[in-house]
Amino acid sequence: MKVFAFSGSLRTGSWNEQLLAIAARGLAARGVALDVWNFKAANVPIYDPDTDGAPPAAVVDFKARVRGATGVLIACPEYNYSYPGALKNLLDFASRPPAENPFKGRVTAQLGATNGPGGTLQAQAMLRHVLAGLGCHTLPGAFTVSRFTEAVDAQGFKEPRQQQTLDAFLDRFVDELRLRSR
Ligand SMILES: Cc1cc2nc3c(=O)[nH]c(=O)nc-3n(C[C@H](O)[C@H](O)[C@H](O)COP(=O)(O)O)c2cc1C
Repeated sequence: MKVFAFSGSLRTGSWNEQLLAIAARGLAARGVALDVWNFKAANVPIYDPDTDGAPPAAVVDFKARVRGATGVLIACPEYNYSYPGALKNLLDFASRPPAENPFKGRVTAQLGATNGPGGTLQAQAMLRHVLAGLGCHTLPGAFTVSRFTEAVDAQGFKEPRQQQTLDAFLDRFVDELRLRSR
């Protein structure tokens, strides 16, 4: 069982990248193999349909890694009540051509971190809409954290209840991965 994991933020020191690392540790403890991808390092250009048929190496690599996993874990910030344009650009790039859409049949799980009060919930709803359109089995719900920098320190969540909620979410993800790996 392998999970391809990445953060939809390009920001150095991203809270979503930190949340992804916490969740990745939890999946590894459950016996899941992780392939963690660095969005910023991939330097994905803006998608232009005129380049169809000759995608950049970073997109070819991204698609192969998605295809090689049973599940995809995405930690994603909220930008103006939606998810970042850079992430949409990446999904658009990876979705072409439709016959080579690597997301079809993947189990996706969503995480989100913000210092605001809204827990990225609007971003998650919009991301789910697109992932479902790409043919993913989207895990219901999302694990989201408001007031992230108050909730987390170097050891992880300060509140045991928050870690317990993440554990329940990861358990559901692993159950779904098992079901889809059969
Ligand atoms: C263009 C822009 C729009 C934003 N809009 C929202 C928003 O709608 N809701 C929210 O909770 N935070 C919003 N934020 C704040 C982000 O939560 C914050 O930048 C956070 O650090 C992003 O996650 P990251 O640390 O993983 O990069 C916005 C930030 C930017 C740059």
